[in-house]
Amino acid sequence: MVCESNNKSYLKSQHLKIIGQNTLRGKVKISGAKNSALVLLAASLLTEEKTILDNVPFLTDIDKMGNILKNLGVKLRSKDHQLIIDSKNISIQELPYELVNGLRASFFCIGALLTRFGEASIPLPGGCNIGERPINEHINGLRALGAEIIIDKDVVKAKLVKKSKLLGANIRLNCPSVGATETLIMAASLAEGRTVIENAAREPEIQDLCQMLNKMGAKIYDSGKEKIIIDGVQKLHGCTHKVIPDRIEAGTFLIAAAATSSSITVSPIIPNHLEAVLNKLEESGSKITIKGNSISIKGNEIKAVDIKTAPFPGFPTDLQAPFMALMTIAKGKSKITETIFEKRMNHVDLLNQMGSSITLKDNTAQINGVKKLKGMTLVGLDLRSSAALIIAALTTKNVSRIYGLEHLDRGYENFELKLSQLGTNVKRRTTKNICESNYKSSDINEEMKSAMKAA
Ligand code: UD1
Repeated sequence: MVCESNNKSYLKSQHLKIIGQNTLRGKVKISGAKNSALVLLAASLLTEEKTILDNVPFLTDIDKMGNILKNLGVKLRSKDHQLIIDSKNISIQELPYELVNGLRASFFCIGALLTRFGEASIPLPGGCNIGERPINEHINGLRALGAEIIIDKDVVKAKLVKKSKLLGANIRLNCPSVGATETLIMAASLAEGRTVIENAAREPEIQDLCQMLNKMGAKIYDSGKEKIIIDGVQKLHGCTHKVIPDRIEAGTFLIAAAATSSSITVSPIIPNHLEAVLNKLEESGSKITIKGNSISIKGNEIKAVDIKTAPFPGFPTDLQAPFMALMTIAKGKSKITETIFEKRMNHVDLLNQMGSSITLKDNTAQINGVKKLKGMTLVGLDLRSSAALIIAALTTKNVSRIYGLEHLDRGYENFELKLSQLGTNVKRRTTKNICESNYKSSDINEEMKSAMKAA
């Protein structure tokens, strides 16, 4: 299995041209959360009635999930940021590999399909450029609920054999996987009897899922806690639900402001979703003010602070790369440890090419703060490392061209538009005939070379 990012679509012709030395000022409107919207789309498969989702972000990941639902026969209508989802006439069939490939969240449909139809077939989502990303917790949990599961030629085939419904069970996750918690909540919501999930993930997106399912008639208690209880119901009905704001998008803008000594306000946001990040931003010198559903930041001299990623409410792995970009120009030495994904340090070499001083051992980066970085032409290798490069580019005194927007567009809605509304000089440009000659040889690292060969 290969991720989309490893195949020919890896190098796209678009880049962001960033003229550095930008100070950000003003307000950013935060979009709906990608990770919530993706799972809420999967949850809409649980009912024959219409589900209306508001505040759905315009992102390529959401388009991909929409295509997966359409492939199952779901009728989708969209108007601005609203999606009307009609799952009445869906047919259960194996999802094509091309659709599932590149969108790991598509695997999360398995719980909903299995509990509604008694069977589901989904290709293995495979590893990715941030790590192996196994699915054993999803599979073990579904087996505990009574599903029979085989993996046949890289396709996960799940069905109910002895009973017509999944049966509630006590499940203890070995690690608090977000996706597995979501898969099992969806599966258990229509199972017979009570399911208890222990060591469940507590991310806000899971709470959003449970709130929507409860509106649909599910009986889920204690979402947001380590032990979630689900009493299965016969049927779920349609509902209207507004996706929560994207805490990772908001965190990225706040970190960009801290890196450029700027003052900005992000809203709407649920401030306690970002508590760990706000604490680290304050520790590193920024002044944070929270008012209702908005957070303002005033950047200051940047102090070095250590971070270690952890499941919610800890520091989110999705903001590790952006925070590292901030630490590269901090005063002093800092240490950043990634504990969730084993290969989520793609940005280290790239930041070092921009002049930072980072050494990496296992999953811990030791960062010696430097006075300044230099603008460069680089290719972001995954979603959040692309955001880190853009933040780094904003701090420099010269021009950068950041490629790899196929990653960025997965998770940031109108990133460059929002940045330019904050007064920065960031423009999307299209280059014809991307090839090695577009880059100075000093800009090209080994991964970029192999990507160019693949393209
Ligand atoms: C979700 C988010 C992603 C975020 C991550 C961690 C979505 C669409 N994506 O990904 O943005 O970075 O949570 O907050 O919501 N693991 C296993 N076995 C499993 C499942 C996971 O060992 O069956 C491991 C993974 O390899 C990883 C860790 O658990 O090391 C966390 O993964 P998980 O929480 O499942 O992440 P995702 O749900 O894929």
